[in-house]
Amino acid sequence: MQPPERNCTHPYLLPLAGLCSMDRATQTDWSLDESVTRLKRIHYVLRGVHELLIARISGEPIYELKMLYSHHAYLCAEQVSLLRSRVGEMREPPLGLDKVPHGGLETTLDEISRCPETLQFLSAIYSVLIDECIQACQRLKRDAHPLADAPSVRIAKLMEFELDELQQSGVACLDGLKKREKEKLESLEPWNEHLHSLLDSAGGIDATKPPTEPPDIRWYNKNAVVYEKEPKRDARFKDPYNAGVNPEAFLYDERYSAMDKTLMLYYKRLREIDVPEVMATILVDLRDEEPWDFHMEMSRQLWDEARHAMMGETGFVSHGIDWTKIPINFTWSKNLNTQLDPRERHGVLFFIEQGLMPKTGKRFEWEVASESGDPLAKLFQDFDWADEVLHAQIGRRWYVPRYQSLNEALSYGDECWSRVLSKWKEYRDQGLTDHRNWWPDLYTEFCNKRGISPDPDTLAFHETYEQKRADLENLK
Ligand SMILES: [Fe+2]
Ligand SMILES: [Fe+2]
Repeated sequence: MQPPERNCTHPYLLPLAGLCSMDRATQTDWSLDESVTRLKRIHYVLRGVHELLIARISGEPIYELKMLYSHHAYLCAEQVSLLRSRVGEMREPPLGLDKVPHGGLETTLDEISRCPETLQFLSAIYSVLIDECIQACQRLKRDAHPLADAPSVRIAKLMEFELDELQQSGVACLDGLKKREKEKLESLEPWNEHLHSLLDSAGGIDATKPPTEPPDIRWYNKNAVVYEKEPKRDARFKDPYNAGVNPEAFLYDERYSAMDKTLMLYYKRLREIDVPEVMATILVDLRDEEPWDFHMEMSRQLWDEARHAMMGETGFVSHGIDWTKIPINFTWSKNLNTQLDPRERHGVLFFIEQGLMPKTGKRFEWEVASESGDPLAKLFQDFDWADEVLHAQIGRRWYVPRYQSLNEALSYGDECWSRVLSKWKEYRDQGLTDHRNWWPDLYTEFCNKRGISPDPDTLAFHETYEQKRADLENLK
């Protein structure tokens, strides 16, 4: 009898759906256990990075970093979800995804969570943790069986691609700040080395190296706390207690033109940096009380709100307006974060988001933008509306079921909001702001840029937040 032909593959086509060569596919140096172990460890670290970034959003004053952390926390959350579902395909529950895979990994994350220096924090995240995660993805892509474990190889590739981009922007920010804070550069190398030796004590993120002796020092005191609920803003945010202009009152007043209203739309969008500041503290405070899917969806919403703020910023830039001259109020996030517990803050958030859905909300803003003749405002409001529809759904999934009915959920949010003291007078009496009416200056500059003279009635607009909330309800 003739022996079977050694190579039975098609002479002109790729074998195995293009995954790998037949030689590679016959190798047996991979197992399901190994795959699950590596995926779980990368999962643990990326979830840690997500938490570290979220915990910095409120207290980080630099606007660009607040936005960067919002973005990257969301990307890490997406990857965490990918990893969780892949592990779920290979194991029966309980999946043990909340277990600490190794004490060395836990200590690494813990050290970073206590680090008060922005440069050190950026370096720890982007030069150490993300860098190590990228390398772990590269090893997974190389080592996993390309045919048997093709789904893991696929996510390793996707993750490597996205993490690489994430690292590039993080390192660019780190390099930028290094130029400003030269005196702190010396401490960076030993700090990075310390973190590397902690990771080495765990055998690396993915346990592909033999574990080494852990360093016997802790860089930061175990009691040091960096997480700050109270929002901070950088020096470009002048007069942040100013609530001397009520943009909603202007927006809903039929006397004013759609074009002029786009200024208030851009203001409202930019002011939305207060939403990530509130959402981040909800996520930190409910860390152990809600399942991962809650954190995932809320992280998406948090990132959307950061995008909305940047759309406002972009809108002002498109009109040649220096937005730093406009007081971007932060008392909503400050008061919510310091006066309410996380469930109450979530209630207020849901109540406001739900109020954006009727005809007077996002549809109205989009109609104003469409009518204004400003194509960028129209584009932004179109996407802003779509995002808000998603957010209302997220609220219905994660907030409403805690109450007997939608109405009860709404009135709880309304009631929590009405309990928040706006402190309009106190802030003025304490000399924190004089609630200057910034509208005439902004409007005049806008008209000058367009070569037209201001309309006297529009110029005369002067309504404040003293008596009214942003939904135009009277304050008690
Ligand atoms: Fe928004
Ligand atoms: Fe929203």
